[in-house]
Amino acid sequence: MRTQVAIIGGGPSGLLLSQLLHSAGIESVVLERRSRDYVLSRIRAGVLETGLVDLMHEAGVGDRMEREGFVHDGTLLANGNEQFRIDFKALTGRHVMVYGQTEVTRDLYEARDAAGGTVIHECRGVKPHDLDTAAPFVTFLHDGKVNRLDCDFVAGCDGYHGPSRQEIPTAERTEYEKTYPFGWLGVLSETPPVADELIYANSERGFALCSMRNDSLSRYYIQCDLSDSPDDWTDDMFWDELKRRIPEEAADRLVTGPSIEKSIAPLRSFVCEPMRWGRLFLCGDAAHIVPPTGAKGLNTAASDVHYLFNALRHFYHDRDDEGLEKYSETALARIWKTERFSWWFSSLMHRYPDQSGFDLRMQQAELAFLRDNEAAQKAMAESYVGLPY
Ligand code: APR
Ligand code: PHB
Repeated sequence: MRTQVAIIGGGPSGLLLSQLLHSAGIESVVLERRSRDYVLSRIRAGVLETGLVDLMHEAGVGDRMEREGFVHDGTLLANGNEQFRIDFKALTGRHVMVYGQTEVTRDLYEARDAAGGTVIHECRGVKPHDLDTAAPFVTFLHDGKVNRLDCDFVAGCDGYHGPSRQEIPTAERTEYEKTYPFGWLGVLSETPPVADELIYANSERGFALCSMRNDSLSRYYIQCDLSDSPDDWTDDMFWDELKRRIPEEAADRLVTGPSIEKSIAPLRSFVCEPMRWGRLFLCGDAAHIVPPTGAKGLNTAASDVHYLFNALRHFYHDRDDEGLEKYSETALARIWKTERFSWWFSSLMHRYPDQSGFDLRMQQAELAFLRDNEAAQKAMAESYVGLPY
């Protein structure tokens, strides 16, 4: 087979890139290891920055998001029983869209189908070749047959565990990583959300987050030990612990119910430099991971896709490769700022096992400063709604 852009990975970044390229008349083929149902069964965060909302519209997949998504003009921060609001609208003139990543991915699959796009599922042994030449290709097994896909460029959208990043020679690659000494125990429940906006809570028992998917589907998280497993937590234990960590008035309002999904995610910050190697360009989790506090995972993938799509569009339409030459540097500049925000917000809202009295006072002072200082709130709001592309 032959195409212009071979995309490894049929998650949100691979599909969004393929749909945008299609809108500019540029061919692509997506190679995905898993089945479509498996990809859509992944439960992931759902807070979209204004940049991603605009990109969804640019890709022609914004209608259902606008119909079913929630516009949030602010968020709530709780410190023990005290709570204050960050008013995104007043501070930045912008908002976020609460719309599940699963729904984003579903809309993109449907758009690829409608446009006759090629997404090949259950590909095995996907391997890029000749990335340092002008004629790279990707080989893969499908239906027991070896396939070869010739292309001009390879987009590595295959997540943290995918093969693409490993194609960058270790001597040319620098990886930065920070792990956090706790995880997030998440529960999905068919219950009405406890509040109209998200509640991020720092309590003496640890972090908690109250989020939602729609009016009757809520998503809650509590900070837990990394050694915990979901089976260690009955639903009752989860709800009791959550109530202890959020303000009393919210705890009194909280509607509990059976969990329909329960999982533990570790918290990690990770960045790979560079994000390009020859004709290979990395996007999303293939190049960087953020802790979920602040919901930047999907949004950082989207900004990568924005930069790569525009670089490829200029290459094919104007024979201008400046965007491709600058892709890694441009994408990383925004990535590091978003990594900083996710690290800062995680450090502010979680309790650390080795936290000293002084550390705790620093956290409390930072929360009080954020509560009382408009400039501090504005800085947080600008990062939360999304830094400009
Ligand atoms: N061959 C083909 N596909 C692969 C391979 C492989 N060897 N390895 C992984 N993949 C696929 C995965 O099955 C997955 O569907 O690549 C896709 C990568 O998708 P994501 O991990 O969702 O990464 P990305 O598209 O960059 O989206 C980033 O996902 O993990 C969240 O928090 C993260 O929200 C962020 C978003
Ligand atoms: C979620 O809805 O799953 C969610 C929201 C905000 C976060 C993380 C996760 O910061």
